[in-house]
Amino acid sequence: MAGSAGPLRHGRGARPGAALPASSRRGGRCAGVEAGRVIRPATVDDAAAIADLEQVLFPGEGWSAVQVADELTGYGRRGWVAGDAGPLPGIAGYVIMRTVGDVSDLQRIGVAVTEQRAGLASRLLAAAFDGVREEGAERVLLEVAEDNAAARAFYAREGFVEIDRRPKYYRQSVDALVLELGLATGTAAGD
Ligand SMILES: CC(C)(COP(=O)(O)OP(=O)(O)OC[C@H]1O[C@@H](n2cnc3c(N)ncnc32)[C@H](O)[C@@H]1OP(=O)(O)O)[C@@H](O)C(=O)NCCC(=O)NCCS
Repeated sequence: MAGSAGPLRHGRGARPGAALPASSRRGGRCAGVEAGRVIRPATVDDAAAIADLEQVLFPGEGWSAVQVADELTGYGRRGWVAGDAGPLPGIAGYVIMRTVGDVSDLQRIGVAVTEQRAGLASRLLAAAFDGVREEGAERVLLEVAEDNAAARAFYAREGFVEIDRRPKYYRQSVDALVLELGLATGTAAGD
């Protein structure tokens, strides 16, 4: 299946220890923190800041700035970041997509731990989906580690459905779940 060969193969997605503590403990939203964030297309100038977030969100498996730059500039690749409203260079989140034909692979998404559960990832996805839809994408595929509870909850909330499982795909023999979202209807493409 196109796209299932490894959108997230370079990293298994954050382990629960990386993604859950702050957001789980804090619970609800923190709109005051998130309010100043603007979603905009990523450029190679964002690569270093994205790589910094990668090291925190994907410990031991985060992409380097060079890898991120490659991901932002390679064939079919595009990214979006949640940046500051003003001229400051900081970013709080990012998403990177790869679109070939009518399928877009969600390569990576992450939000700074201190700004999670404020709706940033949802806003990033909305911008990315608008962008890849314009390029002809009709569905989005991704892989997520079965034990990444935060990401699975997030994707379920966004309407993704499980269509396949790749046994022992990640380190420590964790399975990958292949998820799909149809862009036209917001439901599984096969529905
Ligand atoms: C997954 C991730 C990107 C979500 O980012 P976020 O900005 O916190 O997500 P949002 O605030 O847009 O969340 C939207 C909804 O998703 C669900 N959700 C998000 N994080 C959740 C969590 N930790 N636990 C349970 N549900 C969660 C909730 O339904 C949430 O709505 P609510 O806050 O009103 O309950 C973030 O947790 C992250 O960066 N994780 C580490 C990196 C990672 O694992 N990336 C995915 C690799 S496959």
